[in-house]
Amino acid sequence: MTCILQLGPLSKKFDRTLAAEHEVLPIWQADAEALLAEHAQRIEVVVTAARYGCSAALIERLPRLRAVCSFGVGYDSIDVAAARSRDILVSNTPEVLNDCVADLAFGLLIDCARQMSRGDRLVRAGNWGQGHLPLGHKVSGKRLGILGLGRIGAAIAKRSSGFEMQVRYHNRRPVTDSAYAYEASLHDLARWCDFLVVACPGGEVTRNLVDRSVLDALGPQGVLINVSRGSVVDEPALVSALQDGRLGGAGLDVYAHEPQVPAELLELPNVVLLPHIGSATEETRLAMEGLVLDNLRAFLERGEMLTAV
Ligand code: 8YV
Repeated sequence: MTCILQLGPLSKKFDRTLAAEHEVLPIWQADAEALLAEHAQRIEVVVTAARYGCSAALIERLPRLRAVCSFGVGYDSIDVAAARSRDILVSNTPEVLNDCVADLAFGLLIDCARQMSRGDRLVRAGNWGQGHLPLGHKVSGKRLGILGLGRIGAAIAKRSSGFEMQVRYHNRRPVTDSAYAYEASLHDLARWCDFLVVACPGGEVTRNLVDRSVLDALGPQGVLINVSRGSVVDEPALVSALQDGRLGGAGLDVYAHEPQVPAELLELPNVVLLPHIGSATEETRLAMEGLVLDNLRAFLERGEMLTAV
């Protein structure tokens, strides 16, 4: 039986399946130090998730580690360089969550423009007919800017066709054969669009890419949507742009220091705040867990991963 270190719980069904097939050490249920002191020499696989990560320090403590199977498409919390330096394979769960994350991005976009959450708050507070809900903004026909036209970005762009939106995107390089117009400058994209949707990976390369100057280019009529990672946006700059009215609004599913949400944002009516639920549907989470197990089986049977990063 392979000795697997699991860094955090997934669904009960997943945890049961994993434990039925392997020797699993659930680190969150134990004294982590004591567990590692006793078993570090035997652990061959780490099962983790984007939210639990896998640090270089942990990898270093596991001399027999051969694979890291992660639940989630983002792997910015996993030290892939440390794993590669020891030929440890790392897998993630791409593709299966594209639709749900793109759906949520669009939901946030429409909510921000049409003030659905704000209207809901007004009704629940018993203020219909008393409170004043200002007019929202039309979505159809507007300009959509996408930062990161990868798998999820492309799914977001596809959804916009039903709203007859114009689409442009910014990546480090243009995507070959893309029907959408490429903007070499993120500032130009922000200046052009009504909605800027962040869909690029997190990590050092994209840290604070959306800074004060990009937010100012988006401007008082512009809306920022983030379904990627909080690290891509300079969060203090976002808070002050919203407070000053230099930015029109924001729809956020991700934050710089989850689960902390800047207190200032809670006060602002033109901001929609979600608790990182981009992939959180029964169907998609099941598919993600299935892909973690398939990667693990492929690795144990053939020494390869289906979706290696
Ligand atoms: C995950 C995510 O739900 O896939 C990702 O990268 O951010 C989410 O889909 C979550 O991070 C899993 O821990």
